[in-house]
Amino acid sequence: MPAALTPFQDALLGWGDEARRDLPWRRTRDPWAVLVSELMLQQTQVSRVVPRYGAFLERFPTPAACAGATVGEVVRAWAGLGYNRRAVALHAAALVCVERFGGAVPATVAELRCLPGVGPYTARAVLAFAFEADVGVVDTNAARVLARAAAGRRLAPAEVQELADGSVPPGHGWGWNQAVLDLGATVCTRRSPRCHRCPLAAGAVCVWAVAGGAEPDPADGSAGVGNGQPVFAGSDRQGRGRLVAALRAGPVALADAASACGWPDDPARGDRVTAGLVADGLVATDGRWLHLP
Ligand code: ADE
Repeated sequence: MPAALTPFQDALLGWGDEARRDLPWRRTRDPWAVLVSELMLQQTQVSRVVPRYGAFLERFPTPAACAGATVGEVVRAWAGLGYNRRAVALHAAALVCVERFGGAVPATVAELRCLPGVGPYTARAVLAFAFEADVGVVDTNAARVLARAAAGRRLAPAEVQELADGSVPPGHGWGWNQAVLDLGATVCTRRSPRCHRCPLAAGAVCVWAVAGGAEPDPADGSAGVGNGQPVFAGSDRQGRGRLVAALRAGPVALADAASACGWPDDPARGDRVTAGLVADGLVATDGRWLHLP
């Protein structure tokens, strides 16, 4: 007989069944499609991933299709998602799938961690969302929910994964993790959490809500809880993005790199950022021209 659900598990699973967002990567269990979605979602908002996800998978429906393309083709298809380094990593991950795993995305944490771009979070997300494994998926949203609702206190790094794994109702790894991520993204938000809409507060099973939402917020400084995205405007990342966007249209002269970055008066900065892109494998050069590899 399956183990009985705790009130905490029951409240969140029930909410997930009713309120979970219908997102394209929730309609598949194809490990490659799930891996692609997780790499896209690592640093990009759901609303920006949704319109680009289907087209990317049509272009690269399997690891073999991606591995058979050039890095430049994958970077072109990544347009609009930002953090282009992930496109390079995804191409490299596809090559590892082909060369080591017979063209398939592997199904263990240890093997998944062999794929470039796949860290502890993404490995467990693929296990839970493609293979429906009962592992805890801890991104920044999940870490916040766990600190506030399950623990009611700031968590140490060693505690978070253990608490996440121990919270999964056996046999419900897929639905549980989707619900935790969604609750964190839409209700248990970083600032101004919507406790009036929360199934855990309503069921009096959120430790923090039961304590009256007392300060400090248990998520502040808790392990795995980020501080939000760094400022983009004026950053090196903005310049990198501009140069890669220009290169999607065609080669750029090395002498024009700083201008393409948006810094016509700062060639040293342009050179430094360009060197970083070349070192990351995102950009190739013959000494005079820059182009996508
Ligand atoms: N962020 C990371 N994985 C996600 C998922 N499966 N659904 C929504 N947001 C996510």
